[in-house]
Amino acid sequence: MTTTPLLEVRDLSKHFMVRARGAGRRSTTLRAVNQVSFTLAEGETLGLVGESGCGKSTLGRTVLRLLDPDGGAVILEGRRLQSSHDPALRRAAQIVFQDPYSSLPPRMRVGRIIAEPLLIHDIVAAGEVERRVESLLRDVGLKPEHAAALPSQLSGGQRQRVGIARALAVEPRLIVADEAVSALDVSVQAQILNLLKHLQKERGIAFLFISHDLGVVRYMSHRIAVMYLGRIVELGVAEEVVHQPLHPYTRALMAAVPKLEARRATIRIESEPPNPADPPTGCAFHPRCPIAEPECSSDRPDLIRWLTGRDAACHFALAETSNGTGSGAPPVDTTGGAA
Ligand SMILES: Nc1ncnc2c1ncn2[C@@H]1O[C@H](COP(=O)(O)OP(=O)(O)OP(=O)(O)O)[C@@H](O)[C@H]1O
Ligand SMILES: [Mg+2]
Repeated sequence: MTTTPLLEVRDLSKHFMVRARGAGRRSTTLRAVNQVSFTLAEGETLGLVGESGCGKSTLGRTVLRLLDPDGGAVILEGRRLQSSHDPALRRAAQIVFQDPYSSLPPRMRVGRIIAEPLLIHDIVAAGEVERRVESLLRDVGLKPEHAAALPSQLSGGQRQRVGIARALAVEPRLIVADEAVSALDVSVQAQILNLLKHLQKERGIAFLFISHDLGVVRYMSHRIAVMYLGRIVELGVAEEVVHQPLHPYTRALMAAVPKLEARRATIRIESEPPNPADPPTGCAFHPRCPIAEPECSSDRPDLIRWLTGRDAACHFALAETSNGTGSGAPPVDTTGGAA
């Protein structure tokens, strides 16, 4: 049985021209997103983790065409996206940002903020708008009275609820949530996360859930993709990636979280990441890798399938699993990529 995924991202790349370090005016190409592929099913959450600067936000924005890609394809509901002005894209996919303070227009009342996408996309007849705004407010746990408020009169959690209501207005099939709870207190974070889960269950919305907080990503995601210097280095079922990480970088991330139950733990590993504008040759992780062999500095490992439903980009992905006695056996399927 083959079902078409809601979203297919194929070899997606986004480059920035940046000033080379210590080289006067010479500019160099920073590959913020480098040939990334993955799929997302209807109603699924794919969590995206990795250190600051690894390219998570750039990937999320390029998927939604808020940034123009430098290569690759984004296929949403079976259609290849051509431009950011594609009206089908603006309806099918929405983004929720980290900062509900700066992402809501400060002088606009909440009711108007939520009504605007309804009007722009002609979702309901003009006479129905008010009623739809009220029902969207209820859907996100606010009251109809909140329609008259300005964003500044709301708490952080309430503002994020408004941001979510605005995204829901167009009845999207996909929401990219970029650090959607990172600016909120822990107790408010939990409420918003549960709201997102509830909305997903009710409406079958898919999430690309970006966070530097591994605990949050684990709580939210069906599958997890781990990003390092612009590439996905591991992808698989969330609990399996957490309990038996295959890539040495994923292992380092897990080790850096003192207790996985400690939800606030932030990803940070001992050594500094390399300059993304001048990445190491071969496997970009090799200078920090505890099991690197000489070939790792010359041959870049592709993201391939090592276990059922698990892809990793490491020549020695199975070397340290099961008490460190793995054999480094060949992968079970070399055609899978990021399925
Ligand atoms: N507009 C831009 N111009 C030049 N470089 C950029 C631009 N936007 C991002 N970058 C660079 O691209 C890389 C990826 O940045 P990005 O913001 O996507 O990372 P991130 O994983 O979202 O990080 P964080 O966890 O801090 O949000 C970084 O090296 C960043 O400096
Ligand atoms: Mg980011």
